[in-house]
Amino acid sequence: MLSVQAPSEAPRATLHVPGDKSIGHRSLILSALANGDSLIRGLPASEDVATTRRALEALGVAIEDTPEGHVIVHGKGPEGFRSPDQPIDCGNSGTTARLLTGLLAAIPGVQAELIGDASLTKRPMDRVVHPLKAMGAEITFLGEGECLPFRIEGRELRRIEYTVPVVSAQVKSALLLAGMLSKEESSIHEPTPTRDHTELMLRAMGAKLQTSPEGEGFRHLVERGPLSPMEFDVPGDMSSAAYFFTLGALMPGSEIRVNSVNLNPRRKGLLETLTSLGARFEIDMHENTIEPRGDVRCVQQIPRVKGTPPIKLGTLPSMIDEMPLLAVVATQIPTNIRIMGGYELRLKEADRITGMTKGLSAMGAHINEHRDGWEILGSGHLRGAQVDGCHDHRIIMSYAIAACLARGTTRIEGADWVKISFPGFWDELSKCGAIVAGLDEVE
Ligand code: S3P
Repeated sequence: MLSVQAPSEAPRATLHVPGDKSIGHRSLILSALANGDSLIRGLPASEDVATTRRALEALGVAIEDTPEGHVIVHGKGPEGFRSPDQPIDCGNSGTTARLLTGLLAAIPGVQAELIGDASLTKRPMDRVVHPLKAMGAEITFLGEGECLPFRIEGRELRRIEYTVPVVSAQVKSALLLAGMLSKEESSIHEPTPTRDHTELMLRAMGAKLQTSPEGEGFRHLVERGPLSPMEFDVPGDMSSAAYFFTLGALMPGSEIRVNSVNLNPRRKGLLETLTSLGARFEIDMHENTIEPRGDVRCVQQIPRVKGTPPIKLGTLPSMIDEMPLLAVVATQIPTNIRIMGGYELRLKEADRITGMTKGLSAMGAHINEHRDGWEILGSGHLRGAQVDGCHDHRIIMSYAIAACLARGTTRIEGADWVKISFPGFWDELSKCGAIVAGLDEVE
C-alpha cells in the first residue's frame, strides 16, 4: 500500500510524461499494416502499449528497438500477418482488443483467439463485434456474454454503412481498420466527434480515407489502399499531463511545466475546463507535426472565491479519461458542479463513477453518485483516508492528486497499476514535493 502526503511547498517543476498511449497503439498497428519500415520515436513504455506490441509480434510482425531508444516496425502489409500459436493476451487494454478485432476480422486466412485480464473480459465487445459481423466477420464468443475471450477467423469483408451508436474512438477506429482492408468503400458516421488519431495518421500514410463534417459529427469514407511507412514522433500524453496541470492549477504559488504535450483539440477538454475555472496556461506550440503539440506551463491558479463564474466543462469525449480527475477538481471549487452524461465511465477499466465516489467520500468530499455521473459540492477540504484504486490506473492517479490537496496521509491500494499508462508517475509526483512512501513494495 502506497501512502501520499501533500507537498509542504508549492510545487515548481518541469515534469516528464510518457508518449500518448492512444497514438502509441496506433503507430504500432498502422506501421505493421504499411509496406516497409516505420520509425517510432517516443513510444510510451506503458504496459498497454507493450501489450499491443507483443500482440503484433505474436501475429508475425517484426519490431525492433534501436540503440537510441526508438522502435522500428518492419511492416509487410496485411499479408505479413500470420495466425499465432497461442491466444493473444490483450491484458488490461481495451484499445488493443478493439482495434485488433477490427483488423484481424478483415485479414483472410488469419485466425486468432483474443483473451484479456479480469477487467477486460467484463468490458463490452458487442460494440465492435456487431458491426463487424454485419460486414461478414466470423467471430465466436468463447466465454460469458458478448465479451472476451473470442475467436476471430479473418475473412474478406463486405462494405458497411454505419452510424456508430456509442461515443467511442475505439469502435470508430476498429471499423476504419476493417473498412480500410475491405474492397468496397465503407461509410462510417460518428455523430459525436471523438479522438481522431486514427484518421490523422491514416491520412498521413496515404490511406484512401475521406472525412467530411455531418451534423455535429463526421462521416468517413474508407476503402482499401496501400499505406506508406512513416516516421512518427509520439507527443506527450495529455491524459497523463492532466494530473500535473490540475495540481498546478490548484496549488497556490506552484509552477508546473510539461513539454511537448499533445494538444489535439479532441483531447484537451480538461485544460479548457481548468481555464474556464480561472487557471491560465502559457503554451509554446511546436511546428510541423501531424498532431498539434506544445510546451505547456501553468502560470495562474484557479481563484478560490465564492460566486465562481459559470463553468464551461470541456466536451465529454475530449476529457473522457480525465473524468475521475475532474471529480477531484470539483471537490475544490466552492460551488455545486454536476458532471453528467458519462455512463461510459462505468464501462472503463473499472466502474469509475462508483470507484471515485467511494474514495472521495472517505476523504470527506460532498459527492453524490448518479447513474451517469456525479454532483459535487466543493468545500476545498479533503482529508487523508484509505482508498481503493480499483485496479484502475486513472482512479489511482486521481486519488494521488486528491492526496496532494488533502490534510494528512492518503493510503492508496493498487498503486502499481499506474504502469498501464504512466510507469514513472510516482517519481514525477515526488518531483512535485509530494511525500510518497511505500514505493519499494510497488516497484
Ligand atoms: C481510446 C478511446 C477511449 C479512451 C481510451 C483510449 C482510444 O475509449 O477512454 O482510454 O485510444 O481510442 P472509448 O473509445 O471506449 O471511448
